[in-house]
Amino acid sequence: MHVKDSRVVVTGGASGLGLGAARRLTAAGAMVALLDVNEQRGEEAAAELGQSARFTSCDVTDPENVAVSVEGLKEEFGGIDVLVNAAGVAPAQRVVSRGGDLFDLELFKSTIAVNLVGMFDVIRNVAGVMATNEPGPDGERGVIVNVASIAAFEGQVGQAAYSASKGGIVGMTLPLARDLGGLGIRVMTIAPGIMDTPLLSGAPQELKDSLAKLHVFPQRLGTPEDFGHLVQAIVENPMLNGDVIRLDAAARMPPK
Ligand SMILES: NC(=O)c1ccc[n+]([C@@H]2O[C@H](COP(=O)([O-])OP(=O)(O)OC[C@H]3O[C@@H](n4cnc5c(N)ncnc54)[C@H](O)[C@@H]3O)[C@@H](O)[C@H]2O)c1
Repeated sequence: MHVKDSRVVVTGGASGLGLGAARRLTAAGAMVALLDVNEQRGEEAAAELGQSARFTSCDVTDPENVAVSVEGLKEEFGGIDVLVNAAGVAPAQRVVSRGGDLFDLELFKSTIAVNLVGMFDVIRNVAGVMATNEPGPDGERGVIVNVASIAAFEGQVGQAAYSASKGGIVGMTLPLARDLGGLGIRVMTIAPGIMDTPLLSGAPQELKDSLAKLHVFPQRLGTPEDFGHLVQAIVENPMLNGDVIRLDAAARMPPK
């Protein structure tokens, strides 16, 4: 699929990796809608990206909100060609704390609700719109790029909920691609390593430096630009489908 003139939806587009993808794709000539719960950052991000971007306030855990947002963008854009699913949360808690407190079950459920159920809800709504696109010369109607994490494979202490949500995304990638293949829609998942985004903004430089050392080469944190670059490559390469790509400079996370 060509990026130029494509109609793109990016969840979590107000910040970090989602915004990195939005910057890359608008620079390459796409029209991009940023869907996010953070209205202030969303408006600022859309203003930064210029005329080819707009912000839609949307909580991916609210099915009504998702359906209305996607329908609105279908009307406004006349269709949706690319979906980047980058909305996510990353809480950490031990199953049993040193003081004997148990993992908060509501926190476990809300992590799955945002990262996995919310993502699936956006996928099914957007895929419904993509299915009505005129197919391109190669029969393609759409491309969906999900964001998991290497915590899907090597979750660390405290990451039971986060890793469960990201493992779910990895697990659904192939069946989604199989379900949607007949419609000409590809589905890929990116599993980033440690990326320098607002998720890490509170971390001291010392911690960032030690985290960067987990990357074998290059020994630096990944960036939203690295992520945007891979999203564009996935959109443009028609043979990428049903798979997970680690974007982690050969990092393998230790237990903590
Ligand atoms: N930063 C990293 O090191 C890293 C590593 C691996 C995976 N990831 C994943 O990448 C994705 C993006 O993370 P990031 O680092 O850019 O973080 P970020 O906090 O900068 O961006 C996440 C965005 O998602 C939005 N969001 C959260 N809940 C939402 C909801 N219910 N509905 C709509 N939007 C919602 C936030 O408002 C925010 O703008 C996440 O799924 C995260 O798990 C990040």
